[in-house]
Amino acid sequence: MTPDAQILRALRTAKTGAVSGTDLSQRLGISRAAIWARIEELRSIGYDIQAGPHLGYRLISSPDRLHADDLLSRLDPPQIIGRDIRVFQETSSTNDVVEKFGRDGVKEGVVVLAESQTKGRGRLGRKWVSQTGKGLWFSVLLRPDLRPSAATQLTAATAVALTEAIRQATSLQPDIKWPNDLLIGGRKIAGILTELSAELDHIKHLILGIGLNVNQDSGDFPPEIRRTATSLRLASGTMWDRADIAVAILVQLDRIYHRIKKQQFGAIAEEYERQCLTLGHRVMIQTGSRTIQGRAESLDADGALLVRTQHGRLERILGGDVTLEKSS
Ligand code: BTN
Repeated sequence: MTPDAQILRALRTAKTGAVSGTDLSQRLGISRAAIWARIEELRSIGYDIQAGPHLGYRLISSPDRLHADDLLSRLDPPQIIGRDIRVFQETSSTNDVVEKFGRDGVKEGVVVLAESQTKGRGRLGRKWVSQTGKGLWFSVLLRPDLRPSAATQLTAATAVALTEAIRQATSLQPDIKWPNDLLIGGRKIAGILTELSAELDHIKHLILGIGLNVNQDSGDFPPEIRRTATSLRLASGTMWDRADIAVAILVQLDRIYHRIKKQQFGAIAEEYERQCLTLGHRVMIQTGSRTIQGRAESLDADGALLVRTQHGRLERILGGDVTLEKSS
């Protein structure tokens, strides 16, 4: 952990609320003057840290901006996801940054967040609107030992982890719309874009791109999605600390990736099925040039959707645009 992450962790976990300069200097193995310089630097980026001769240092408030050291300081050492965190003020798409990391051989688990994206993208070539400072736009690099066709497991597991993190952090309960949308009150609050680089039988690296609307007001959304999108703020009437939500998500993602590695997708699929709006409904799915109509029955062992068509055939769907039809 960097000195700043260690200082922030010490301030956040201080039993009396404050930590002395001497204590910090001993813990970090640097001089009190060096601690003071780090505190000044943290203040300059918006941390309100009080200091007094007998009080020590006390963290009063954090800025509403994402800061890698702060996120690292709030995580117990993760197994994989979140052991390396990078924050960009602006990038084209965090998936692009992580794709380059993937090609360059960076270790799996790195998380790239951006305050804004100029070319945020969604599934099926759609644009993803990423308003500065209003949401969480981030991507994770993974190198799972899976066949390309099992990548759907990771999309499904990510949806479950996101749902759990949002529930724990906000008490809101999102629904999952297969394969990758999270909805609250029927409106989209989050999406997952899974991209991969693979050989025929083996994933080389996989990118989980996650977009979560956090503090947007309805006027922040462009008119074309205003009626179909929502944010944690709109759904709850509360402004949320994005770093708190990010930490909750990273903890759940790390946990669920560990379960995937231990080949426990079966249990994750059951959790997914409990929260999935799509299952049990009549659906129309546009996948490439095909339109499939039928009843969504369940997920298979790789996370693909099993749809019973009107002719009684069971179709295995890996991706597509799903419309829920009125149940008959
Ligand atoms: C979808 O619902 O179609 C998926 C949306 C995924 C958006 C996220 S934001 C972070 C990452 N970078 C991108 O360009 N897209 C994903």
